[in-house]
Amino acid sequence: CTVNGLQDLLGKAGLDTPVPDFPGGDIVHNPQDIFRAYLADTLQKLVEVDRAVAYDAIQPSNMTGMGDLVIVSPRLRLKGVKPKDLVSDLAHRLPRSPPFACPIPDGIHLRVLSSPNTLSRLLLPYVHDRNTSYGYDSSIGLVDAKAPEGPRKKVIVEFSSPNMASEFQVAHLRSTLIGAYVANVHAGMGWDVVKMNYLGDWGKQIGLLAAGWQRFGSEEEFQKAPLQHLLQVNHKIEELFKPEKEECKTAKGEGKDVTEIESRGLYAERDDFFKKMEDKEPEAIALWQRFRDATVEDYKASYARLGIQFDEYSGESQASPESVEEVEAALKEKGVYEEHEGSWRIDFSKHDAKGLSTAVVRYRNGTTSYLLRDLAAVLDRHKKHSFDKMIYVVAMEQEMHFHRVTKTLELMGRNDLADKIQHVAFAKITGLLDEFKDAQLLSDYLDGCRLVTQTAMAEETEDTIFVTKTDQSLESVGISGLFIQDLNHKRTTSYACDAKRMTAFEGETGAAIQNCYARLVTTLEGNVDGIDYDNLDYTQLETEDYSEVLRIITQFPDTTYASFKTLEPTTVIIYLGRLVDQVMVTLDDDDDQDWTDREDATKARMALYENARQVMENGLRMLGLSPWTA
Ligand code: ARG
Repeated sequence: CTVNGLQDLLGKAGLDTPVPDFPGGDIVHNPQDIFRAYLADTLQKLVEVDRAVAYDAIQPSNMTGMGDLVIVSPRLRLKGVKPKDLVSDLAHRLPRSPPFACPIPDGIHLRVLSSPNTLSRLLLPYVHDRNTSYGYDSSIGLVDAKAPEGPRKKVIVEFSSPNMASEFQVAHLRSTLIGAYVANVHAGMGWDVVKMNYLGDWGKQIGLLAAGWQRFGSEEEFQKAPLQHLLQVNHKIEELFKPEKEECKTAKGEGKDVTEIESRGLYAERDDFFKKMEDKEPEAIALWQRFRDATVEDYKASYARLGIQFDEYSGESQASPESVEEVEAALKEKGVYEEHEGSWRIDFSKHDAKGLSTAVVRYRNGTTSYLLRDLAAVLDRHKKHSFDKMIYVVAMEQEMHFHRVTKTLELMGRNDLADKIQHVAFAKITGLLDEFKDAQLLSDYLDGCRLVTQTAMAEETEDTIFVTKTDQSLESVGISGLFIQDLNHKRTTSYACDAKRMTAFEGETGAAIQNCYARLVTTLEGNVDGIDYDNLDYTQLETEDYSEVLRIITQFPDTTYASFKTLEPTTVIIYLGRLVDQVMVTLDDDDDQDWTDREDATKARMALYENARQVMENGLRMLGLSPWTA
């Protein structure tokens, strides 16, 4: 995949001059940049503008049927010519030599098509060479772009992060799906990725759970189904706790002091146990550890169904005492730590951050807060991983919390860390499938997906469905449906789950993409080995439909790069939808033709489909999905 190898390939594709050099172009990873460089070079000579101006005036087109590249004439910044006139002038003067075909004027745009002849000869071997890495640019994660074997930048992606002994909420589900994508896209772009699950495994709620365990815990039930049992215990104790909570709330409403209420009953039991945990008393820790181990064990199995493996199960419990101390010492030293009736807090309004109001860092009874634990975790993680970037994939509701984390790091004088962290927020899932309504654990959601997929698949007929109706297919198509439905919404858009849309075999859905993938796999069976890219009859691929598949394949690296920049997976899904549509059209056409005695044509077609399949696989993997297998 070197520049030299590329020149050889270009020669075979009928391009004798080397690719003109342009600073922004990445011809090794992005075939579109090759065409762009040739066009910019020609354009620059025709209109005598700066090379960079010519290059920037050319945009990739990403609409089916609208050409490959677009010259946006006003961007050439030529004085005294109307953009439209410039377009028709250029349309006459642009040479019709490889790699370009006839240009099409379109208002102030000149649409330029690559000649089908060059396109297939160049692109198919190009994609074939790059294989699983096509669309990924591993140089992005390099510490030094000039040292391909050198060190890579490190990113921690924290995602999923459910709470112990409570329901796996849809927010955790969305975090899991988006987080998997964020981790994958970074890994593909050459980053060293640490996938981290930050469990809500510390805090007063664990104290309450322990109080529940005293009353309702059963060893037997716990052995049988640990998570279900802990949830049950939790629900029962919450129920028992309700009257006390109500009493406290009413008193607060009446402006009364609630210290007395909070110092007895379950309040006291809860706080005492949590205090024991914070003091690391062996008995308390042992019980907590059992709960935690069972939780991690169980979750691992469910995440595996999603193809996710965490590198670290960290959690709120893991904040080291040293880092906690370091945070508080820095806050004191910088004069931002205030004592208030026995608790310690930061009044952000005094530090240019009015919107963040006041936050408690350490409670009156000496226990740490969510904020303090998160701050200590930043220091711990930096000591352990010295990350270049850390991403929190967490619901939008916690936006203020993460602003506080960043702001506090700044106040502590740790701008170096504040600059490296990023909250990748997402909106709510507003409506659930009926199958999800009673879901409590991640596995319940996954089973729900399976169920709706089964119903949908049963309705499909033999000639529309290419995935087999096996158990494995159900699971894979079901999970794809879940991923794709979620990731096809912009992160900050909320949406309602819809079983029909989730499982449809048409449109931008998991089922449609996997189904097309399965159709490609079936078509290619026994036909891929020994494709000789040097001796293919490329003229067979010069029809409009095949060229359109090739064009879409060319656009893949631009797509993945754009998705990486914004961390919006929908970009990749829209792309895959276009590829699927076009591939289905050509496969349908192929089915209507007789291929006997047309071996050359078949070989060329198989090369095309094999590359389309590869691109689809790479796109699915970027989203966190495995492509369908028989
Ligand atoms: N466990 C938390 C929740 O369920 C999410 C954790 C978010 N991550 C963090 N570093 N605070 O709301």
